[in-house]
Amino acid sequence: MKKILITGALGQIGTALTARLRETYGTDNVIASDIQKPEHSSVVTDGIFENLDVTNQSLIEELVQKYEVDTIIHLAALLSAVAEAKPQLAWELNMGGLNNALEVARTYGLKFFTPSSIGAFGPETPKDKTPQVTLQRPTTMYGVTKVSGELLCDYYYQKFGVDTRGVRFPGLISYEALPGGGTTDYAVDIYYEALKSGAYTSFIDKGTYMDMMYMPDAVEAIVQLMEAPAEQLVHRNAFNVSAMSVCPEDFEKAIQAHLPEFNLSFEVDSVRQTIAESWPNAIDTTAAQTEWGFSPNYTLEKMTADMLEKLNVKITE
Ligand SMILES: NC(=O)c1ccc[n+]([C@@H]2O[C@H](COP(=O)([O-])OP(=O)(O)OC[C@H]3O[C@@H](n4cnc5c(N)ncnc54)[C@H](O)[C@@H]3O)[C@@H](O)[C@H]2O)c1
Repeated sequence: MKKILITGALGQIGTALTARLRETYGTDNVIASDIQKPEHSSVVTDGIFENLDVTNQSLIEELVQKYEVDTIIHLAALLSAVAEAKPQLAWELNMGGLNNALEVARTYGLKFFTPSSIGAFGPETPKDKTPQVTLQRPTTMYGVTKVSGELLCDYYYQKFGVDTRGVRFPGLISYEALPGGGTTDYAVDIYYEALKSGAYTSFIDKGTYMDMMYMPDAVEAIVQLMEAPAEQLVHRNAFNVSAMSVCPEDFEKAIQAHLPEFNLSFEVDSVRQTIAESWPNAIDTTAAQTEWGFSPNYTLEKMTADMLEKLNVKITE
């Protein structure tokens, strides 16, 4: 990766990834882009930023030509809960945007990364130690676009030789940018509320296990996979990655180790609960470990200590 175009760079992943890539590859070699342009975001102020709507292929192409891009990291998408509320828009953005970005990668011979999700699995998928290759019959529009995206990226590699790579991210927890409307957002909200009010009402029910990962591990995984020698990769586009399988009470316990008065209650949102129940409890990450050395650093306890410390500073600023 020498000149990297990031789409959807103002989102939860993009905000953290843009900073990391600017640090590692140089500010002038990272072109952050998004459909929005908030003036005060570090993504906009600390380096190259361009407005880009990924549903317009020629706009992607213009930026690739202008900056002589060699890699696209495609993050623009609608997340699970929002996609369920706006399924047609989710199809247009998640599939249309991906198809446009892949076409530009094919035309200009670019390397390509896009994340899939644990949402690409479905209710019939084995829930524990979910294999790398398994039954995928998702019942949400988000899942339908994610499994289709995995297949489309495989197709572009097999048919056109585009160097496509990707992971299935679990719920991602971060302090830089707020999540964009996913089913695992409670795992970010809980830390904000623990510090602000000492209490949190979870929209996901007790005992509901899902895979999660701290953002520094997610960003590291993207860099590691993109830098891995191509001949080491067998699966390429949808590596299972995760650092922990957790339920709301696990967060409660981890937070109480720092804030003993913290109180967790439940008011379940049926839409997001149904989505959560259709996803695995704990996925198997062996392929990512063996093919490109995936090895997350953060446990729930280590992540909780870091989140509370960083958010405390952010909230009191
Ligand atoms: N955050 C997670 O927990 C998680 C988990 C699994 C997979 N993913 C995947 O990672 C990717 C990025 O997720 P995120 O959490 O950063 O999402 P996000 O919702 O936080 O950010 C998405 C960004 O895309 C931008 N966008 C929307 N429409 C656009 C358009 N037409 N053109 C250009 N930009 C547009 C938005 O302005 C936003 O900044 C998505 O593909 C998502 O499915 C995320």
